[in-house]
Amino acid sequence: MVEEQSYEAWREVLSSKGFIHGKNTAQVEQKLAARLGVRHAICCANGTDALVMGLMAAGIGKDDWVAVPNLTFWASAEAPAILGCNIVLIDVGADLHLDFDALKAAAKAHPLKACVLANLFGWASTALADIRAFCTTEGIALIEDGAQSFGVAVDGRPVYANAQVSTLSFYPAKVIGGCMDGGAVMTNDDELAKRLRSIANHGRAEHYSYAHVGMNSRMAELNAAYLTRLLDHADTILDGRREAFAAYQARLSDVPGLTFHGVPAGQTGNGYLTMLTHDTLSGDDMVAKLKARGIFCGRVYPETMDMQPPGKAWTRFGDLSRSRALSRALFSLPLYYGIEPAAVQHVCDTLIDVLKTEGNA
Ligand SMILES: Cc1ncc(COP(=O)(O)O)c(C=O)c1O
Repeated sequence: MVEEQSYEAWREVLSSKGFIHGKNTAQVEQKLAARLGVRHAICCANGTDALVMGLMAAGIGKDDWVAVPNLTFWASAEAPAILGCNIVLIDVGADLHLDFDALKAAAKAHPLKACVLANLFGWASTALADIRAFCTTEGIALIEDGAQSFGVAVDGRPVYANAQVSTLSFYPAKVIGGCMDGGAVMTNDDELAKRLRSIANHGRAEHYSYAHVGMNSRMAELNAAYLTRLLDHADTILDGRREAFAAYQARLSDVPGLTFHGVPAGQTGNGYLTMLTHDTLSGDDMVAKLKARGIFCGRVYPETMDMQPPGKAWTRFGDLSRSRALSRALFSLPLYYGIEPAAVQHVCDTLIDVLKTEGNA
């Protein structure tokens, strides 16, 4: 979409040798802040670093207790694990997101200092406002993992707008995907933003003086040159994804035995993923059956955090049964910017036919 313009911009970066902290990164930060409704967006090397830095800036470190949903991408848990935190795995609710009641109960059982709330799949937690209010009241730092939620709005406002700290990933497969890894941390807090900017650059106060132990997590200008141009097409990308998502939803919502997990009321989704479950067939079954018919599907996420070898040592809050059951059942149909309406209909026809053949629809 922006390849030709990027070649020109890359030539400029290469000849100027301004490989980091250049005008392209500054532009990405300005565009993100304006678009996401936040005071500050700080670019960094990837979405995992963004989470680590968000936790660090909030003062979270070794042995602090951090709540993490049991169904999410690994990095939501990996980030506090990198910092040596005690992780408490929390089950998810019917919205497939961190269960608010379980979080409240976990906060009674453990001295929670932080919570990583992942807004996943193309929408946000239905308990977002409650979780934010609860964490503020309880003095729990809330880091919102927004790697997947570019374009998601809650009550008409970007999901990032009212977060204490939120993060983005520009992993190439994301809604806004870079030409290499990239990420950003967003906040409305000026002091926190200053700390984040320093942490992303070795904790620097001046070039050779260091206010913090930080990290080296800077966005490459070559990536920023691509991203700043891509961000100008964000609405086109989002419209395309949302249209495909709506077409899937319209066709698959009433298929017996199938649940199409839609965007919660009051929210605008971004069409990142289709999330489906079937009453009797597992996610693996569905993927295998569709693959046999030439349709390649994904499984997000086939295993929960507590099933990973490092996760076995973490604290589990409750039996985590819902997240475990969902991880066995969930599957996703092909959805990407530019998918043809006929391709969506073909996937739906095939899925419906598979279920009929199986005697399941
Ligand atoms: C929910 C979530 N959190 C964090 C990340 C990590 O981002 P990155 O791959 O840029 O490190 C990703 C994506 O990869 C993600 O989907």
